[in-house]
Amino acid sequence: MASGVSNLQCEYYTPGVLGIANSSPYNPCMSYQVLARKYRPAVFKELEGQEHVLQALINALDNERLHHAYLFTGTRGVGKTTIARILARCLNCETGITSKPCGVCSTCVEISEGRSIDLIEVDAASRTGVDDMRELLDNVQYMPSVSRFKIYLIDEVHMLSRSSFNAMLKTLEEPPEHVKFLFATTDPKKLPITVLSRCLQFNLKNLSPEQIVKYLAAVLDLEAIAYDESALWQLGLAADGSMRDALSLTDQAISFGSSEVREEPVGEMLGSIDAKLVFQLLADITSANGQRLLETVAQLSDFAPDYAALLDDILAALHRIAIAQAVPGAVDNSQGDEQQVLQAAERIPSEQVQLFYQIALIGKRDLPLAPDQQSGFEMVLLRMLVFSPDPLPEALSHTPPAGAGAKPKGAPREVKRTEKKAPVKEKKAQKNKEIIAESEGKNLTMIFLFEKS
Ligand SMILES: Nc1ncnc2c1ncn2[C@@H]1O[C@H](COP(=O)(O)OP(=O)(O)O)[C@@H](O)[C@H]1O
Ligand SMILES: [Mg+2]
Ligand SMILES: [Zn+2]
Repeated sequence: MASGVSNLQCEYYTPGVLGIANSSPYNPCMSYQVLARKYRPAVFKELEGQEHVLQALINALDNERLHHAYLFTGTRGVGKTTIARILARCLNCETGITSKPCGVCSTCVEISEGRSIDLIEVDAASRTGVDDMRELLDNVQYMPSVSRFKIYLIDEVHMLSRSSFNAMLKTLEEPPEHVKFLFATTDPKKLPITVLSRCLQFNLKNLSPEQIVKYLAAVLDLEAIAYDESALWQLGLAADGSMRDALSLTDQAISFGSSEVREEPVGEMLGSIDAKLVFQLLADITSANGQRLLETVAQLSDFAPDYAALLDDILAALHRIAIAQAVPGAVDNSQGDEQQVLQAAERIPSEQVQLFYQIALIGKRDLPLAPDQQSGFEMVLLRMLVFSPDPLPEALSHTPPAGAGAKPKGAPREVKRTEKKAPVKEKKAQKNKEIIAESEGKNLTMIFLFEKS
């Protein structure tokens, strides 16, 4: 299914329909509106991701095989309310039941403006009581005022009280033909099984950083706001699966960075560490460059980072590197670091990746015991350095610093690929293996000591 990005539109501005230009003083887009509201998708194809749910809904609508109760589950800001509202339009659009609501008939317009009388939106969090539910259900029997269906959209439905659920059960089992229930919840486990079994359930997925970055890029292009792609990756990772969070963070980043979304201010705003630095640390370790390692840590400490979270980042990177080594091709760019992972996977022996992982894991456990977080963190990295075999040649382990490129022109760039050097390389590999075996032994002893203490 086509992803939403190229179809994005401002909720209030449909070119050729409302017939007003972006520069029109009457265009409500001109006044500032938060991105998450401004870019609430109005048709299915504008959504990013959730293809599995959308395809099922589209098929059902196209074949008019409609259920009377739908339940959308998923964490905050992944499209539950959005999809439910679009479904309401699909059901009530004046052009007929359709998977592509017209967007211009009065029903479609009223739904998007939140004033359709036949779409009854209830926030269960604020109307939990059984009286509220009775009042609501009393009206179920009456026909819709103007539309095809009377649609009840109950958000955060898990917040309803038990007696409210009971009041609802009968209606839910045999609702009148003209009634549809659309439920949304972040916590389906709190729903009584009797309710669950009467609904068609759709589980929305968290959005991947990659999906979020793609969507943010499209939104910022429409807003004509300049951005660094790396800044979008930071936002995409920080949003933790939620598109609403991603858009809110982007709002913040825009005002923080005076109408641009750039890497450095975004990093500052999020207090997040540039993912590149994690790979820089690993490169410093594998090239046994203790001095640069400490410099990198000093650079990091400017951000007053959460060192435990930083160790998590290192663990996550090592995990992806190990995957790349075990199953080449299994690493995707969903975290925006594919290139770096692949390079590291080629560079660092797999046994060493395992060893580093173990050191980081134990280091994280012991971090609270260190006199202070930074020194604890440094010790973990220095331990990796100590337990590293011979340093890998600089050219292999790190992007050459300025001046290191003074090789004769035409010389092969990657020494490791030249055949002449192969025997040396083999010897070296053998030696590396021995050292790793030895250092693993040491590490086991070390782990053992830690376990005993
Ligand atoms: N899958 C998605 N694709 C595009 N935008 C999304 C998506 N999910 C959420 N959003 C954005 O987040 C906002 C809130 O989404 P909403 O559907 O209300 O989330 P919730 O799952 O919490 O009900 C929307 O207005 C929209 O801008
Ligand atoms: Mg919602
Ligand atoms: Zn319509």
